Amino acid sequence: MWLLLVLLSWPGVAWSRRHGVEPPGAGAQITGLFPHLAYEEAYVDFFGGANIQKLKNGTYVNISLNKYSGSGFMSREKYYYGFFSAAIKLPSSYTAGVVVAFYMSNADVFPHTHDEIDFELLGHEKQKEWVLQTNIYGNGSVSTGREEKFYLWFDPTEESHEYSILWNYHHTVFLVDNIPVREVNHSDAMSRAYPSKPMSVYATIWDGSDWATHGGKKPANYAYAPFVASFGALEMVGCMWNRTSSAPPCPRGGQSQRLDLDPVEGPDFVRLSEKQRSGMEWIRGRFMFYSYCRDRARYSVLPPEC
Ligand SMILES: *[C@@H]1O[C@H](CO)[C@@H](O)[C@H](O)[C@H]1NC(C)=O
Ligand SMILES: *[C@@H]1O[C@H](CO)[C@@H](O)[C@H](O)[C@H]1NC(C)=O
Ligand SMILES: *[C@@H]1O[C@H](CO)[C@@H](O)[C@H](O)[C@H]1NC(C)=O
Ligand SMILES: *[C@@H]1O[C@H](CO)[C@@H](O)[C@H](O)[C@H]1NC(C)=O
Ligand SMILES: *[C@@H]1O[C@H](CO)[C@@H](O)[C@H](O)[C@H]1NC(C)=O
Repeated sequence: MWLLLVLLSWPGVAWSRRHGVEPPGAGAQITGLFPHLAYEEAYVDFFGGANIQKLKNGTYVNISLNKYSGSGFMSREKYYYGFFSAAIKLPSSYTAGVVVAFYMSNADVFPHTHDEIDFELLGHEKQKEWVLQTNIYGNGSVSTGREEKFYLWFDPTEESHEYSILWNYHHTVFLVDNIPVREVNHSDAMSRAYPSKPMSVYATIWDGSDWATHGGKKPANYAYAPFVASFGALEMVGCMWNRTSSAPPCPRGGQSQRLDLDPVEGPDFVRLSEKQRSGMEWIRGRFMFYSYCRDRARYSVLPPEC
């Protein structure tokens, strides 16, 4: 029995066990409701410009990491809330130590009280074994890591899959191919660590040799470089920060009588449907292998929302 449990939790077995597994219907398809943006309309280079390749008139972008530099791009605007999505295809070679991130942050403007919402895809020495890590920080809550880690139920290097962040006053939802994998409610317990200030969207690829794969035991191997990640189907809609005005220009958190005016604060976005919730439970039951809420070695007193 013990041996069986060990085998089932071994990543190699996890891959064959999940191979060909079809998750249940996700309910609402959120991606595709909003326009796909061209790079020039919505994004600017963030770093490593020589490693950023705009393709098909900016409808998708390849960013790469070589031994000299990683690369990344960021949204032109900051948002108070919204829906942010990209179809990502990951590099298919040996990728231990490589990190591909799709995330939101405002550390550039609020270095000591920053907010952040992260998807981090962590490379692996077995080419298909990418791990998905999610995390969230609010108002500088960096002393409390709220990581959760998942195996993927598909080969992320074969084709593009959609990774989406829905963030509003009510909750933050991480979705993969429209299936929620994690929901963080804006509850009383989370209120001091809930992202609440305008954030930019970032897409990056970089060397995380010191931590990304087996806690840093497998560094990046540049014999396999360049590592190239593709980002397409870029969707970004929400309440844009107006730099010349201090007040949020959009209705927030049910204070408005006209929630219907803004789809990303509207009724379809403030809570998960039954179908979304059962899809989320299905994924978490099978593919989540780490949650900070279960890490008693790290938190002898678990964070209040756990
Ligand atoms: C290329 O994208 C720009 C906007 O970024 C648009 O104005 C232009 O029409 C596009 N060209 C083609 C051929 O699609
Ligand atoms: C862009 O990156 C993806 C993922 O690595 C790759 O499959 C594709 O061939 C790249 N496209 C170009 C034009 O380099
Ligand atoms: C978030 O809040 C909703 C509505 O109160 C609740 O049904 C759901 O279980 C909560 N989600 C989590 C992850 O606690
Ligand atoms: C955010 O942190 C700052 C500095 O620690 C504090 O003054 C402020 O009250 C906090 N805001 C919230 C909403 O907790
Ligand atoms: C930003 O705010 C200023 C001052 O309130 C206003 O004049 C301007 O029209 C706003 N810009 C946009 C794009 O909403």
